[in-house]
Amino acid sequence: MTETSINATSTFKLADRTVNRMGYGAMQLAGPGVFGPPKDRAGALEVLRAAIDGGVNHIDTSNFYGPHVTNQLIREALHPYRDDLVIVTKIGAMRGDDASWRPAFTPAELETAVHDNLRNLGLDVLDVVNLRIMFDVHGPAEGSIEAPLTALAELQRKGLVRHIGLSNVTQTQLAEGLAIADIVCVQNHYNLAHRSDDRLIDELSAAGIAYVPFFPLGGFTPLQSKALDEVAAQLDATPMQTALAWLLHRAPNILLIPGTSSVAHLQQNLASANLKLPSEALAVLNQLSGDALPE
Ligand SMILES: NC(=O)c1ccc[n+]([C@@H]2O[C@H](COP(=O)([O-])OP(=O)(O)OC[C@H]3O[C@@H](n4cnc5c(N)ncnc54)[C@H](OP(=O)(O)O)[C@@H]3O)[C@@H](O)[C@H]2O)c1
Repeated sequence: MTETSINATSTFKLADRTVNRMGYGAMQLAGPGVFGPPKDRAGALEVLRAAIDGGVNHIDTSNFYGPHVTNQLIREALHPYRDDLVIVTKIGAMRGDDASWRPAFTPAELETAVHDNLRNLGLDVLDVVNLRIMFDVHGPAEGSIEAPLTALAELQRKGLVRHIGLSNVTQTQLAEGLAIADIVCVQNHYNLAHRSDDRLIDELSAAGIAYVPFFPLGGFTPLQSKALDEVAAQLDATPMQTALAWLLHRAPNILLIPGTSSVAHLQQNLASANLKLPSEALAVLNQLSGDALPE
């Protein structure tokens, strides 16, 4: 595949904005362990500019990446922002001095987080804010989200936040959330090897709500599979491009935010929006599971 921009990608209405389904996740731009500054600051700025040049108009970030680092890089690289750019951020966590990820869920912490995002991104209002649920940092865990979501809805009412999403949630929490606020997107862990949200994706698709998989390429342990390698080779694509194309095919409400600190990888990821998956390739990819495709 030689294309380096999004030519054939489809779009999705994320709240009141139309975004290309191939976006970009900024987490990989911070230092090792998503903590501290990047090793190559100029390179990080270049990745962000290349994303926009390649047609990305949906960037995922958070003030707890770094902390502050990715938001400040986005501002330096891209401010003043293009009118069509939608920046999605998330609140609900903070970083310890030891780089740990901790819940930050009180109304005061959530309000501080919104202001930190506004300041570091150089915005007066945040397009979309995901409430990142932290009952278990590693995956969805039950527990009421009423108190923090009500606090976020209040910040929306004050005009600091346009739209609200949820991250790392269960179906029960989504139902609870929908009774409190309009939810425009859900950001959970999902990829070729990790498909526990299959039912949720279909329900959200029927409701017109975006599903934004985090770790679309496996995150800190990138996807590895002989069968994936073989399908990719037949398509003259890389395994990562094939994994992204499968996600785009999986459901029309899936918006991709693959993360990378490399312009070359970014361009491969953007090009995957143009990759067609023939039915034989889809049949093999659909059969892959966590067992067949260890992360
Ligand atoms: N809501 C949440 O709880 C949550 C959690 C995690 C992440 N996120 C969001 O989701 C986004 C995506 O997740 P992620 O960045 O952690 O994981 P990911 O997109 O699944 O994978 C990123 C990893 O894949 C590598 N990579 C990317 N493109 C590649 C390519 N074309 N070929 C080979 N390797 C490639 C990257 O390394 P290189 O830098 O070397 O390319 C990096 O190691 C994040 O950026 C963040 O915005 C949200």
